[in-house]
Amino acid sequence: MLAQTPPMGWNSWNTFGWEISEELIKETADVWNDLGLLDAGYQYLVIDDCWSLKKRNEHGYLVADPYKFPNGMKAVADYVHSKGLKFGMYSCAGTMTCGGHPSSLEHEFVDAKTFADWGVDFLKYDYCYKPHNIPGHILYKRMGMALRSSGRDILFSACNWGNDKTHEWIRATGAHMYRSTGDIQDNWESIKNIALSQWNKECYSAPYCYNDIDMLVVGMYGKGNVALGGCSDEEYKTHFSLWSIMNSPLMIGCDIRNINEATRNILTNKEIIALNQDPEGRQAYSMEQWNNSDVKIYIKPISDGSFGIGFFNMGDSDGEGSLQFWDMGLTASSGYGLHLRDLWEHENIGIATEHFTCKLKPHHCKVLRAKPVKVK
Ligand code: GLA
Repeated sequence: MLAQTPPMGWNSWNTFGWEISEELIKETADVWNDLGLLDAGYQYLVIDDCWSLKKRNEHGYLVADPYKFPNGMKAVADYVHSKGLKFGMYSCAGTMTCGGHPSSLEHEFVDAKTFADWGVDFLKYDYCYKPHNIPGHILYKRMGMALRSSGRDILFSACNWGNDKTHEWIRATGAHMYRSTGDIQDNWESIKNIALSQWNKECYSAPYCYNDIDMLVVGMYGKGNVALGGCSDEEYKTHFSLWSIMNSPLMIGCDIRNINEATRNILTNKEIIALNQDPEGRQAYSMEQWNNSDVKIYIKPISDGSFGIGFFNMGDSDGEGSLQFWDMGLTASSGYGLHLRDLWEHENIGIATEHFTCKLKPHHCKVLRAKPVKVK
């Protein structure tokens, strides 16, 4: 079964847009394992839009652009598989892809079979140029059905940006993840707005179908296709922590061939990733503070009885995160406190009773793993 936990991988779009090629994909696959990405859980290497010719061939099949992919897609898939990775591709439910290439409307079954024959393990399915007369859930049910009939296990990644109340029907289409937001940009405002847009939609994410709040911009530093501004390393840490605790798939978007140590440390922080990859797949709940502070708190129940707790300063001035444990159900009379571990500092803080408070600079975060322990 696919997507027991949020899918993890890399996608070409954020940095490379339409400038993709066999060479880029091979070079990306080549550095993957040395960076420890597979070991950290990243598995799917996904080519986004603009990989095909602008026209189907005379038999109605999609054709890889021979300038970008001179040996065809099967050869690329074989190479990716030879590195122990899984291979992903992209199509669209409307009359064209967002980049103006042929999409799969009315070709769902033939395309799903083509992808299966090439060895594709993951299909991102976009929503541009959607026909007005067919509801979105039918378009996704069609491709969901086609993939399930293709003879290959293909993870179905729906991408309709949270439009048309997608969270209410997407699970029924067989999708394993669904974009619940618009496109991300490499800047703090975008990260903040995307995260806050999910407030109170927590219940729509669960094993086998996760809310996807878009690919990561960690490590882009203002370079590439969606790089509008860039972020600091602290902002990237906050971004990665939010995506992890909020159950989003973790799809890297930077150029991993040229990655620095700070980016690598963020993307491979196994204690943060463990919150995201918990097999129980519970979504975090979000909490406002009594004083309406810009520091938001997210709490994610973990299968071993512990909790991920994230404090995120979304504001532009210094802030304080203050969690009263009774707000998470831990009463003072219970005789329990929380054993706390800091997942960025990688150190135990000790046992706290009744509450925990931390100061946070603008856009900074603190992420803890908390285990209830008897104190009296
Ligand atoms: C849409 C999607 C993006 C990307 C582009 C490709 O905007 O949301 O993630 O796939 O299309 O054109």
